[in-house]
Amino acid sequence: MQPFICRGGTPPTPFKFLLCTLPSRTPKFPYSTSPLLSLSLSLSLSLSLNMSTWLLMLLCAAVLVIIIIVGVTSIFHVKSWVLGRRKKLRRAQLPGGSLGWPFVGETIDFVSAAYSPCPETFMEKRRLLYGRVFKSHIFGSPTIVSTDAEVSRFVLQSDARSFVPSYPKSLTELMGKSSILLINGGLQRRVHGLIGAFFKSPHLKAQITSDMQRYVASSMARWPVDGPDHHRPHLVRIQDEAKLIVFQILVKGLIGLEPGKEMDFLKQQFQEFIAGLMSLPIKVPGSRLYRSLKAKKRMATLIQKIIQEKRRNTNSRAPRDAIDVLINDSSNLLTDELISDNMIDLMIPAEDSVPVLVTLAVKYLSECPLALKQLEEENMQLREKKLMKGENLEWTDYMSLSFTQHAIAETLRMGNIISGIMRKAVRDVEIKGHFIPKGWCVFTYFRSVHLDESLYEDPYKFNPWRWKEKDISTWSFTPFGGGQRLCPGLDLARLEASIFLHHLVTNFTWVAEDDQIVNFPTVRMKGRMPIRVKRKS
Ligand code: HEM
Repeated sequence: MQPFICRGGTPPTPFKFLLCTLPSRTPKFPYSTSPLLSLSLSLSLSLSLNMSTWLLMLLCAAVLVIIIIVGVTSIFHVKSWVLGRRKKLRRAQLPGGSLGWPFVGETIDFVSAAYSPCPETFMEKRRLLYGRVFKSHIFGSPTIVSTDAEVSRFVLQSDARSFVPSYPKSLTELMGKSSILLINGGLQRRVHGLIGAFFKSPHLKAQITSDMQRYVASSMARWPVDGPDHHRPHLVRIQDEAKLIVFQILVKGLIGLEPGKEMDFLKQQFQEFIAGLMSLPIKVPGSRLYRSLKAKKRMATLIQKIIQEKRRNTNSRAPRDAIDVLINDSSNLLTDELISDNMIDLMIPAEDSVPVLVTLAVKYLSECPLALKQLEEENMQLREKKLMKGENLEWTDYMSLSFTQHAIAETLRMGNIISGIMRKAVRDVEIKGHFIPKGWCVFTYFRSVHLDESLYEDPYKFNPWRWKEKDISTWSFTPFGGGQRLCPGLDLARLEASIFLHHLVTNFTWVAEDDQIVNFPTVRMKGRMPIRVKRKS
């Protein structure tokens, strides 16, 4: 049953449904004006007219007939072209599925599954009934859900002529029109290219490595050797520790700020800002969204001050942070406002996801002693080798730790920090025989692909060894998305996680306390991953 579908590709609102089902009311005139009748009328009239008038009328009639013939023929051609095109698209079927209840659709089912330990059950049930691609109605929009790697690949590789990003209203309001997460076309490619190249640069990786080593070491140095009663080791919440360190690294990489008063101010405002990302889209004084927008404004003022200082002191040194890269761009498209807004928006995907990656890795490793042992051995060997040579660890050393990299890949596969991505179709699209109408959303759900037993043997088992033979750059493994908007921070995320794990396993042993993963609205540990740590002798 497709209760709201109006063929023609427009989003099926209940109002449009009514329009589609109402009987059409073509006006009916009392007297028919057939061509034959008009011809006989004109003949009888012609008897009483003179020759020139008669000729003139004949000429007019001929012109009229020609106009009618041409008009009818072209209408026929346009119509058959449109029909032909639609027919071609219609060969693809709207996927099976249900649009659920009016207005709410299947959102309640989706959210209740998302809060459970197995959010993919929502998808699995429908996948069994309708296949890997099905239609639904979630978060106020008719949506095609894809749990098929190939369909998702097509969506992610398409540009803004077919699909554009789609986020909840509160999020788009907070990010602003010029956010990299929302802009399309040439400007998105430009900002993505500049930032991506900078994040990949060996110079930045070297800087991040030395900063991160410093911050991690000083943070871990504060962890007491013993707990208060000398029998129970000290309790540390990994998620909090990772967040503090990663935020400092991120802010330095983006805007060049060192820890201190301004960093503390930024952190405080950022917390206020992100609290509104999933709020109701009500912008009145005192509302959550309003307070978040105010916090963003305060951050933007500070960042714009930094940009102006940098513009005044331009010299030809290599860029040290993302602002340096963007202000050196010669296109004149990147205003101070666009740069400052994007610096804040860049913190959104980065601030939370890397600490969660570290936290989940600690959780999975704690539950798999064999993997933890192998990771520890690999990191101890590297440390000893470097100590013997009297060298510091470089970013390339961390990335060469193959088992650690496999453990991070496995954490990304199982943890699904970004479970999927929403796009909106801006025209009718056909993919692999599926019809996606213009105005509908597409939800490329990575989690189901990452936990698909036809792709991953024993998919719910933490098994870093599986990556020895597997390629991480395939479309069945997309923790960082893909195509036009592939995460530009993917190398940094892996590097930061490797550095944190290295310092943890080489300096401490630990016992994890009970905790559980929460998957909605963002992935995190309920108790912030408490572990009891003991410093290694
Ligand atoms: C574990 C860590 C991370 C995960 C799982 C992750 C995941 C993702 C995913 C799935 C996307 C694609 C979004 C889309 O297609 O709409 C994305 C985009 C993005 N990520 Fe990450 N990310 C991580 C870390 C980072 C870091 C550290 C940074 C920056 C320092 C970053 C910056 C970005 C940006 C700017 C985009 C938007 C790119 C664009 O739209 O052109 N991410 N990320």
